[in-house]
Amino acid sequence: MKRKRVKELLAGPVTGEKVLVKGWVRTKREIKNVAFVALNDGSTINNIQVVIDISLFPADLLRDITTGASLGVTGTLEASQGKGQSVEILASEVVLYGKCDPDIYPLQKKGHSMEFLREIAHLRFRTNTFGAVMRIRHAMAFGIHKYFNDRGFFYLHTPVITGSDAEGAGEMFHVTTLDLNDLPHTDKGAVDFEKDFFGKPTNLTVSGQLEGELGALALGEIYTFGPTFRAENSNTPRHLAEFWMIEPEMAFWDLNDNMDMAEDFLKYLIKYALDNCREDLEFLNKMIDKDLIERLEFVLANSFVRLTYTEAIKILEAADHKWEYEIGWGRDLQAEHERYLVEVHFKRPVILTDYPKAIKAFYMKLNDDSNTVRAMDVLFPGIGEIIGGSQREEELDKLTRRIEEMNLPLKDLWWYLDTRKFGTVPHSGFGLGFERLILFMTGMSNIRDVIPFPRTPRNAEF
Ligand code: 4AD
Ligand code: MG
Repeated sequence: MKRKRVKELLAGPVTGEKVLVKGWVRTKREIKNVAFVALNDGSTINNIQVVIDISLFPADLLRDITTGASLGVTGTLEASQGKGQSVEILASEVVLYGKCDPDIYPLQKKGHSMEFLREIAHLRFRTNTFGAVMRIRHAMAFGIHKYFNDRGFFYLHTPVITGSDAEGAGEMFHVTTLDLNDLPHTDKGAVDFEKDFFGKPTNLTVSGQLEGELGALALGEIYTFGPTFRAENSNTPRHLAEFWMIEPEMAFWDLNDNMDMAEDFLKYLIKYALDNCREDLEFLNKMIDKDLIERLEFVLANSFVRLTYTEAIKILEAADHKWEYEIGWGRDLQAEHERYLVEVHFKRPVILTDYPKAIKAFYMKLNDDSNTVRAMDVLFPGIGEIIGGSQREEELDKLTRRIEEMNLPLKDLWWYLDTRKFGTVPHSGFGLGFERLILFMTGMSNIRDVIPFPRTPRNAEF
């Protein structure tokens, strides 16, 4: 007989048909001659109730049906007489795939702290919370590809290993096959990267943008969606050393087009989650964050505020608030400032534009004031910066000057500069941090809990 998913059984009409389900035991209760087993197979947050007539099965089999054990159950699907579920399976055959010793199984029925679950990240998928988060994460990845595909964007695979630290976005992880205990040296005593795998120093990428631009300047509209790596030592609930980023890049789009799409894109994803992940969202709303669904619906229904960095600084300077980090024109905004604007002042998402050039990347288009650049950061409630992007500098001379001013290695960027020599066009793009998006969508409070295997300073277990 072909196995059916629990999700399918709970959704379909009750027919009295014979079915086969397979999954893991969440709980078992025995009342008189009947055992009630809640079975979950990961397809949904909900369990299916299996009703076992104790007199029909061997005692040792029944004893081994404990939380965490894996079973195959054949039986008839009936309308449930009990409360809390609409259907149940009256078991006629039970196969025990794997026992789960309750004396050593770390997941007990009682709730566990997120910190404890991080220590058993190999098992935390089996909890309701992580099941819900992982299903939402999947739905968001799928929704992202659908959004772009439906709009004629092409998915471009940019490299994970890169020869340039062009972005200057953060500390990079080196990639090498050299023996660190026996490094080759040049005559001048430096490490001889000629002898390394690629014949030069290489790193894990911090962003696919620069390569993405090369694609956009031929294919029109592209996006990347891949892992990125930053070795910044920021141990915060918003930073990972390995995270996933979505980076659309569009030829002939200006900053306004870019902002319009960022807002439309985020709202599309919120709606996609509300339409497709209802049960998981309701669970998280009940157990993790009681304002979650309301906040999602609020962001969906309201337009984002758009204002310049300069206007934002004025608001922050006038605010009656004690800042941990000083504010002033020219300083970068910290999470506390971003969240004040969003959560206290405007009470809705904000897109900040036109930042001082000194605190933004070299590739952002210079404004006519020669002081600010056409940057845009989208700031979200509870998160702070969720998207960073800009219109790009398409003029060769201005771009070259910025690279020199910022002391970046001009010669390493020859291929990037070529696009400005050969048929350059105005273009724009942005990067959405996938895990920050999932934080917002799930109401979880630590970014380590929305990625299957978090990589943070001093932590690369599992
Ligand atoms: O603002 P960032 O650094 O922008 C870029 O990398 C550009 N190349 C994007 C582009 O224009 N194509 O990063 C973009 C987003 C941030 O807004 C944030 O959501 C996320 O990536 N992000 C991180 N997420 C988790 N951990 C980290 N360490 C992150 N650093 C950035
Ligand atoms: Mg940024």
